[in-house]
Amino acid sequence: MSSRGSQKRKTEPVESSPKEQTPEQQDDAMKILTSLAGVGKATAQKLISQGYTNLEIIAVTPPKILEVECQLSPALAEKIVQQAREHVGLDFISARDMLQIRKNVKRLTTGSKALDDLLGGGIETQAITEFYGEYRVGKTQICFTLATTVQLPEEKGGLNGKCLFIDTEGTFRPERIIPIAQRFGLDPDDALSRIIVARVFSTSQQMEVAKIARKLIKKENIRLIIVDSLTALFRSEYVGIDQLAIRQQQLNVHIHDLARLAWAFNLAVVVTNQVMANPGAFFGPQMSAIGGHIVAHHVTHRLHLRKAKGDKRIARVEDSPYLPESEVVFRIAYDGIRDAEEDLEEETSTQE
Ligand SMILES: Nc1ncnc2c1ncn2[C@@H]1O[C@H](COP(=O)(O)OP(=O)(O)O)[C@@H](O)[C@H]1O
Ligand SMILES: [Mg+2]
Repeated sequence: MSSRGSQKRKTEPVESSPKEQTPEQQDDAMKILTSLAGVGKATAQKLISQGYTNLEIIAVTPPKILEVECQLSPALAEKIVQQAREHVGLDFISARDMLQIRKNVKRLTTGSKALDDLLGGGIETQAITEFYGEYRVGKTQICFTLATTVQLPEEKGGLNGKCLFIDTEGTFRPERIIPIAQRFGLDPDDALSRIIVARVFSTSQQMEVAKIARKLIKKENIRLIIVDSLTALFRSEYVGIDQLAIRQQQLNVHIHDLARLAWAFNLAVVVTNQVMANPGAFFGPQMSAIGGHIVAHHVTHRLHLRKAKGDKRIARVEDSPYLPESEVVFRIAYDGIRDAEEDLEEETSTQE
């Protein structure tokens, strides 16, 4: 970590160095970017200032976005993205190479062994994991626990990094982090300082934070991005059937921004989502997750949460490329998410 970088200032003029990157990181990025044909120092500087510091993130960015954000000509943006894709080997990749990339996937503990097992060993990086369910089922409590466990070393189930917590509902509570940090042997004050909270009030702010995040990830060593909740602001801002198409389109852009970050920086993205009643649903589920197909298709793993007795909750995998559809019971405790007592495990099948 070189967050004290500003103290050992180099000789170059301060104005030309975007403040989100440390000088060392900028040098690295400069080398990588100027190795691309058509990219000189000035273009590299534009890319760096927008957080495009590695070829992975450029490779997965649509040229049009790169063009607008970095003020490049369409042809140059296209050329840069194309080269990045070739470098990263994104266009064609053997399943064998893909397996190798998958080996870089890391796992983050939820605090409950049962829930971790359900997830195939914990929340994974390079993916978006969605927890959805009614009010008070524990979505935010899961987020609090993950915001803390991400700070643990890998051998203890963490990712040895910080959390960016995008709070759209005003429900982030720093006090809740303290007992969770203590449980995992972290200094509460340190733990709090490693959670960067962005309280947002509009969808445009929410989407902007996901874009700014790109510039912070390396410098701050962010390994987990939480969006609690992904959909609430979209739902309240775009009301009525005539707004639905634009709402879905914006949500689509936002989820893709998050997916790119997860992939390019090998970090975990966790989002929460509420449910709404399905009017006129005589058959099939009475409640479904907000966001329709856009959210359903673009999150990697979707888990449904529901209440059980007392502090117990049930998590069920509903959609995942490789996790079987099954469910487990966990418990919401003062110090975070925990396993339910073994003798209460039977409740899984009896509670609705
Ligand atoms: N300090 C605490 N100690 C134990 N349980 C808590 C504490 N704070 C909240 N909870 C539990 O968390 C539940 C709310 O979960 P939350 O994650 O906020 O729900 P939501 O799904 O709406 O985000 C409460 O019903 C309560 O059971
Ligand atoms: Mg909540």
